[in-house]
Amino acid sequence: MQKIILASLFLIPLSLGTIDFNPIVTRLVEYRDSQNTVLEGYLAYPVITGFFRKRPAVIIFHAFTGRTEFDNQKARDLAKLGYVAFAADTYGKGKAAPDVNGNFAIMGQLLGNRTTILRNRIISAWTYVKGLSFVDTNNIGSIGFCFGGLCTLDLARFNVGLKAAVSFHGTLTDYPGNGTAIDASIQAHHGDADPHTTNENAEDFIEEMRRRNGDWMFSRYAHALHAFTLPGVENWGIPGAAFDPIASNRSWSAMEAFLAEKLLN
Ligand SMILES: *[C@@H]1O[C@H](CO)[C@@H](O)[C@H](O)[C@H]1NC(C)=O
Ligand SMILES: *[C@@H]1O[C@H](CO)[C@@H](O)[C@H](O)[C@H]1NC(C)=O
Ligand SMILES: *[C@@H]1O[C@H](CO)[C@@H](O)[C@H](O)[C@H]1NC(C)=O
Repeated sequence: MQKIILASLFLIPLSLGTIDFNPIVTRLVEYRDSQNTVLEGYLAYPVITGFFRKRPAVIIFHAFTGRTEFDNQKARDLAKLGYVAFAADTYGKGKAAPDVNGNFAIMGQLLGNRTTILRNRIISAWTYVKGLSFVDTNNIGSIGFCFGGLCTLDLARFNVGLKAAVSFHGTLTDYPGNGTAIDASIQAHHGDADPHTTNENAEDFIEEMRRRNGDWMFSRYAHALHAFTLPGVENWGIPGAAFDPIASNRSWSAMEAFLAEKLLN
């Protein structure tokens, strides 16, 4: 008898294992920057959002690739953690190129006009998320990868009310103009062997954070190259870029804890 009871205790969770207790909804959404450029983002959030309470939100800024399935997956992962997640688009709807060089060219144009065009695109993602009726606007964070790391750090530098910003192998170059204090808490993840964003760039960034008197933390991953969170990037013909599953997992776990500390309490 005891054995039967014990056996059924184990069967209950097993039989419920296929039911998704944390369903999410996803959809593509159009939004515009202040110059009326049409952008296309991807929104993911828990199904019950809005009925019971407003939720904290996380904006995801894409790498040089433009918004891809990688970013959409990150949005779904964050939605599963309870956030309204928005994979933003800084390139423009349908603008991303099919090849690496085409996308480097688009990224180059935006970086060449960081203070007007790129700034508009970054702020439009912030404005869009802040305008969602089911978002707790006091608890918005952002994350970003490579070029998107620069975007998430710039959003923090703009002091618009962002609570936390996380950069994964981001471009760490300071925003031109001024070094105002920074309100958002910052977490940056850096590949120690990244030849694109070098350790010298990393030291400059840390100096910038000190100057801005920010609440920052900076993690370095031994042997990790550029783009270490991006599976398969080592096959794209970009020297110095490779997926590193250990650095990828560790940095994502650290982000989860950091965002929970800043946005969920
Ligand atoms: C950046 O873009 C704005 C708006 O299109 C333009 O007025 C400005 O001249 C550009 N700046 C540079 C450095 O290209
Ligand atoms: C510093 O730069 C930010 C971003 O461009 C801007 O919003 C802010 O007004 C500037 N502050 C000063 C004191 O110039
Ligand atoms: C990284 O995390 C994934 C998902 O949890 C797991 O399947 C994989 O084994 C992990 N890889 C490493 C190297 O830890």
